[in-house]
Amino acid sequence: MDQAQKKRQAARAAIDFIEPGIRLGVGTGSTVNLFIEELARVRDRIAAVTASSRETEQRLKAAGFEVAELAETGDLDLYVDGADEANKHFHLIKGGGGALTREKVLAAASRRFVCIIDDSKWVAVLGRFPLPVEVVPMAQSYVARQMVRARGQPILRKGFVTDNGNVILDVHQLSITNPPDMEARFNQIAGVVTVGIFASRPADVILMAEDAGIKRFDRR
Ligand code: 5RP
Repeated sequence: MDQAQKKRQAARAAIDFIEPGIRLGVGTGSTVNLFIEELARVRDRIAAVTASSRETEQRLKAAGFEVAELAETGDLDLYVDGADEANKHFHLIKGGGGALTREKVLAAASRRFVCIIDDSKWVAVLGRFPLPVEVVPMAQSYVARQMVRARGQPILRKGFVTDNGNVILDVHQLSITNPPDMEARFNQIAGVVTVGIFASRPADVILMAEDAGIKRFDRR
């Protein structure tokens, strides 16, 4: 099975979590795009849906959904999103698509966070994937220097502006052995809007597609 087929499998498996009357948050990325396609089958179960990015909002609308703001839905029953990396502690790296800030807000506002990945995303230690950090534009060189002090190699994501009008530093060469600690420390740096470590609010369920099928992990 190739990676695209695995992403489709993971997206399909998440449909089982859509219960009648649900208030749903939808993430961003190629795996989530497949989830949006699958979601049309269970349209009548969804009471309200909100999106983590403009791109997802457009895709949901194109699929015939009315998309609400988080302020209208209130807290969510379920958030479904992909990840760039995941580990056995349900910690994630996210933000490859640049939507990390709104993704973190929706994850925080949700009772349950189901993460859909293929097995290429599974790692023992986070940090092989460069860590996305959303930064206020005027602070980019200051934050980059702090990243170098933390032994990372920050690279500005060229030509990319987030939905919030900010820039992204992709920080290479970090070995994230203590994700909650690094998330908290980087969050304290002036000018950082969001760090792409999702550890203080980890996933609750990971649905990982591999050749043998879907592997499900539940956080206690
Ligand atoms: C977007 C994200 C995505 O979840 C992450 O990049 C994974 O994307 P894909 O499903 O395309 O592999 O965090 O900001």
